[in-house]
Order: sequence, then C-alpha cells, then structure tokens
Amino acid sequence: MEEAKNIGSPLILGIDTSCDDTSAAVVADGKRILSNIVSSQSDIHKKYGGIVPELASRRHIEMIWPVVEEALSSAGVTLDDIAAIAVCHGPGLIGSLLVGCGFAKAAAYAKNKPVVAVNHLEGHIFSVFLEGSPEFPFLSLIASGGHTSLSIVNGFGQYTELGRTRDDAAGEAYDKVAKLLGLGYPGGPVIDNLAQEGNPKAFDFPRAYVPESFDFSFSGLKTAVKSAVSRKPSAASDAGFIKDIAASFQAAVVDVLVRKVEWAIVKKGIKRVTLSGGVSANSELRRRFQEMAEEREIELFLPSISFCTDNAAMIAAAGYHHFKAGDIAGIDLNPKAYLPLYGCSLTKDSASFGTD
Ligand code: KG4
Ligand code: ZN
Repeated sequence: MEEAKNIGSPLILGIDTSCDDTSAAVVADGKRILSNIVSSQSDIHKKYGGIVPELASRRHIEMIWPVVEEALSSAGVTLDDIAAIAVCHGPGLIGSLLVGCGFAKAAAYAKNKPVVAVNHLEGHIFSVFLEGSPEFPFLSLIASGGHTSLSIVNGFGQYTELGRTRDDAAGEAYDKVAKLLGLGYPGGPVIDNLAQEGNPKAFDFPRAYVPESFDFSFSGLKTAVKSAVSRKPSAASDAGFIKDIAASFQAAVVDVLVRKVEWAIVKKGIKRVTLSGGVSANSELRRRFQEMAEEREIELFLPSISFCTDNAAMIAAAGYHHFKAGDIAGIDLNPKAYLPLYGCSLTKDSASFGTD
C-alpha cells in the first residue's frame, strides 16, 4: 500500500446509486480519478421503456459491494486508505438511494471513516472539475433525466438557481419520446443517433421559451411529437419518418437549451458556462454549444461523455469539498427523494430575468 499513499491525498471513495446505475469511484484531491466504475442497469429497464424503481433497488443491492470492490482494486487501494466516503443522498429514487447510503454508513462504521453527504445535482455541477478548473462565477446548465436547471455558481456551495423545468426534464422528454417510438430506454443515445440521419426541419415542433423566465418546459413538445406520430399510419415501421421525428424533436430541445443559456449570458454578464448531466452527452447539443461559445467568446466546459451521465467520480469530487470544509454527516444520514442544493438561493423568475 506504499503506492496508495503516494498517489495523492485525501482519497475519497464516491458512491452513487441515485437512479439506475450503481457507481463507485476513488478520487484523489477532488480531481484525480484513480477509478470510476459504473454498472449500468439499462438491460433490466429497457423492455419497460423506463426505470422500474423496485427492480433498480434490487439490482443496486446485488451490485453495490462488487462495484465498490472493483473501484478500490482498480485504484490499487483498500478501504483503510480512504479518507472519507462520499455518498449521494438525494435527489433520486428513494429505494435506490437507500442502498448507497446504507452501504456507505455501514462501511464507514466498520472502518471508522467519516461519511460525507453529497447532493446529486452538486455532483453534476462538479463533474466539470474532474477535467477542468472553471473560475467562479460560472453559469451551470444541468440537463439530465431527472432535472433541467440553470444556475449561477458563485463558489463551492454557493448556487443561485435561475430557472428549472416546470414539467418534464430534457432527458425525460428524450426517454418518453423514445418510448413512444418503441426505441427502448434510455432514449437519449438512440434518438441522438437516429437524428443524425433525419431532417431537423421535417416537423416544426414547438419551442417553449417560457416568457420572462429562465424556466424550461418540455411537456408540450412531447405532446406535439405524440400527435405527429398518431397521425401517421404504421409510424413505427417507417424508418425515415422515425429519423425525421428524432431530428426535429432534438432540434427543438437543443434550440431551447442553447437560447436560454444565451439569454443568461447576456442578462447576467457571465462568460463562463458549464454543461453537465446525461443530456450534455448529446452530439448536437455539444456542437451547438461549441458553436455558440465560439461566436460569443464564451469559455465552455463540457465533461467527457462518461462524466455527463451518472458516475461516482463526480460525487467524490463534490464530496472532497465537503470533507475539506469539515461537513461530515452523522450515522443518522437518511436519503431524500427531493433535495434542493445546499446554499442554493432561488430567485424569483421575473426578478431574476429582469435584473442586471
Ligand atoms: O445524468 P443522468 O445519467 O441521470 C440523471 O441524473 O437523470 O441522465 C440520464 C438521461 C437520460 O434521460 C438519457 O436519455 C439522457 O440522459 N441521455 C441523453 C444522451 N445520453 C444520455 N440525452 C440525449 N442525448 C444523449 N446522447
Ligand atoms: Zn444524474
């Protein structure tokens, strides 16, 4: 274990079981990834067109120890070398979160290690620090299966949320449209692929620019896709139609995400932007953001694909800051399905939009 002591300190073991992936990672100094293991449950949920919470919890129970063991062994360390265990305690599926939290507390108790509780959204925000070092303040867009939110990050633990989705999250819209088209789960990657061969102007789907607000709304778009599909006889067997729907739907989602961030850049005068969450793996979204960043001379931070979707390295990265700040959780730590960001002040829509 001499090697382990030399790789950097403190070593944080991150754990994320918030949704349908069991993940564990070992990260040194909040930045250097020694291992990042993700066990996907897509195969289990695929046939249902979405996550079945009970099946997700059961799979987490089976996988948590093997995944943690693999994270430790790939990093060349043991639990004894770990300074703290950072675990995601919300928001997410309560049964899934329970497995990660229960495991983290048991391991911490057995090895006399501190536990650090990390908000999943904070993890997504800090995923960009695994590969870069954006200066504060920056605008952070999280677009995932459970959330779509735009915030100003003024420092670690200092978040001002400008807007969030009023109904479906962007990734949720991808997943629901994919289910409608019989494309399985998760919908994002498959629609992303199909869209590359479709015409983004084939259907003029609505873009919901919620007026005087940084909020998002994707449920109307989903309904518009549904009615376009229902008007087409044997839609599912028409490959060209499916590709056009995918491309037109994707164009609508990307337009809204890019435009809202552009407005925030102008209104808030912040020229640094980070993207995170599963939808930021989208090829068209990345291309359009890169194009916008060049045009507007914005510093853009885009995580690699493996850090866009859920992973425990991001939980360890955020957990490192809590650990440094002495923010240690008690043995009474409980997961929470709904959990706002710590230190997050919510701004009123109109006030937030109109100021500066
Ligand atoms: O961040 P994440 O792994 O989990 C949550 O915190 O929700 O995000 C998962 C979401 C799913 O809705 C999935 O369809 C979407 O991210 N996603 C994508 C792509 N890859 C994953 N959406 C669009 N394009 C992609 N390439
Ligand atoms: Zn996530």
